Amino acid sequence: MSLALSVSALRKTYGSVTALHGVDLEVDEGELFGLLGPNGAGKSTLVKSACGLVRPTGGTVEVAGAPAGSERANRSMGYLAELFRFPEWCRADELLELHQRLAGSRGGASERSALLEEVGLADAAGRRVGAMSKGMQQRLGLAQALIGSPRLLLLDEPTSALDPAGRRLVRALLERLRERGVAVLLNSHLLSEVELVCDRVAIIAAGRVVAAGSPDDLSHAGGVEVETGAGVRVFARASRDEAPRIVAELVGAGEAVYGVRVLRSSLEDAYLEAVEGT
Ligand SMILES: Nc1ncnc2c1ncn2[C@@H]1O[C@H](COP(=O)(O)OP(=O)(O)OP(=O)(O)O)[C@@H](O)[C@H]1O
Ligand SMILES: [Mg+2]
Repeated sequence: MSLALSVSALRKTYGSVTALHGVDLEVDEGELFGLLGPNGAGKSTLVKSACGLVRPTGGTVEVAGAPAGSERANRSMGYLAELFRFPEWCRADELLELHQRLAGSRGGASERSALLEEVGLADAAGRRVGAMSKGMQQRLGLAQALIGSPRLLLLDEPTSALDPAGRRLVRALLERLRERGVAVLLNSHLLSEVELVCDRVAIIAAGRVVAAGSPDDLSHAGGVEVETGAGVRVFARASRDEAPRIVAELVGAGEAVYGVRVLRSSLEDAYLEAVEGT
């Protein structure tokens, strides 16, 4: 089985600016992969390389086993750009029809209505883009990216304009896609959202992957907190494995123990630590 996305030693320079310094990254079928990093880190450059919109200076990018930018690769992926603008005069249904033609999809009206339903725009099929809120346009953009049932979805900050209900809708959509085996590469600055939905995360800073793993791997243990008769005591450097010993020692010393909590650093802490000084 081929990977949904395989990026190997990817380098990209724009004139004197090096946006990517040799990035390796693999996304499996059905995997939700989050790409985090500060502004200018190279996230969009990486996503655009996978779409074939940016030509690598070095290294290789393959989508479902085909070179990025090839017809076979393009047929396997859907893309929502971070700063997209759809024509204001275009109605939602017309826009999807136009993109079906561009993508060579034969899904017809049933694909369009299923996609509008999927993004919560079933009642807005006849609405013009110019009369839609920013969040509605972003959801329409997601529907557009799903045309032709791609195996890999490349989403560059797909929830930046969404309210909390819209974000939850997109999270549920991403989970349904995972069940169908669709792989997703998601750029986001919303760490809590990435933590909730992504199987794996890479943190990219100044064109390099500086940390990668599951959100759980990245947010490591951050101490043990024990509630005793004498008040709450924090053992800042202790790990989960040390909790039973700490409790035994406290009880042995005659303290009453009412509760124990293993503290974890958040993904935000891990992120700030990883990008510090880059
Ligand atoms: N077309 C371009 N021409 C020249 N430089 C570019 C171009 N596109 C991006 N860059 C530069 O490449 C670097 C990476 O930009 P990129 O857009 O990939 O960052 P990003 O991680 O997506 O940032 P953001 O979080 O702000 O979207 C930046 O220094 C940017 O200025
Ligand atoms: Mg970007």
